[in-house]
Amino acid sequence: MSELKKYLNRVAKLTDATLDELLPPESASPSSIHSLMRYATFAGGKRVRPCLVVATNEACGGTFGNREAAYAGAAIEMLHTFSLIHDDLPCMDDDDFRRGKPTAHRAFNEALAVLGGDALCIFAFEILSTLGRIDIIREISTALGTSGMIGGQVVDIESEGKKVGKRTVTYIHKNKTAALIRASVLTGALLAGADASTQKKLASYGNNIGLLFQVIDDILDEESTTEVLGKDAGSDREKGKATFPSVYGIKESKKYADTLLEKALKDIAFLGDKAAILSDLAEFIRVRVS
Ligand code: IPE
Ligand code: IPE
Ligand code: MG
Ligand code: MG
Ligand code: MG
Repeated sequence: MSELKKYLNRVAKLTDATLDELLPPESASPSSIHSLMRYATFAGGKRVRPCLVVATNEACGGTFGNREAAYAGAAIEMLHTFSLIHDDLPCMDDDDFRRGKPTAHRAFNEALAVLGGDALCIFAFEILSTLGRIDIIREISTALGTSGMIGGQVVDIESEGKKVGKRTVTYIHKNKTAALIRASVLTGALLAGADASTQKKLASYGNNIGLLFQVIDDILDEESTTEVLGKDAGSDREKGKATFPSVYGIKESKKYADTLLEKALKDIAFLGDKAAILSDLAEFIRVRVS
């Protein structure tokens, strides 16, 4: 097993244990919503965002497994899961599969999926508040709001079926996906007390791998299968989504992905040997198949 695979497995174990410790048990009343929250959270995601929190934290001097980074990673995974539950709803992308299982609104019902997403979002901020770091809460809130993920999702939905250009698709991807990925990287750095110049370079790395992440997501939607992805393949084309392949074509999108990877690797070169896992993560995001 490659070093990165081992690292991803270690972080997934840490994140799953933390999420299990934090999330209310299914038996807690009202048990339907707690079941949905756990169903969506433990459906088998890659845990890339917690891995970015922990790996950046370590690269900046933190110790693997420290409670703050584990809690922040778990909270960000809850926020990511909330975004997926809502993204799949009939009024949004209307998808049936996620993480290899029926989507939350299919397995439960729509009302509970809306509320379960809301609850994960709110609970994540309760957990973040226990860290007592207003700067981190601010970074993550900005990444999720109308000048971040929500803004990107609005333009994504409003662009369906329209012919959009490079500017619009870049805006959508930077906001709906790269913003939270960048915030995950910065959270790890801020917890380790990184200085302003380190934060700036890591923010650029986060933006580049975040954009890369969504370009590859778009390519996989075109080229892969529902079985391999664990979510509905071909869903973007069906809905006339603004994606990189739809604007640039597949070949150019892949070239652009290579450029983004190169930029990301340059951003973290200053870390020297400590950049190893972050470099491997960037490469993983480029070559991943699901
Ligand atoms: C899917 O994210 C949604 C996007 C932002 C493209 P991931 O590919 O990280 O999904 P999981 O967490 O592994 O299921
Ligand atoms: C969603 O982008 C990004 C989010 C904020 C959830 P997509 O709609 O392309 O994500 P998938 O393909 O459904 O995972
Ligand atoms: Mg979507
Ligand atoms: Mg979607
Ligand atoms: Mg997609």
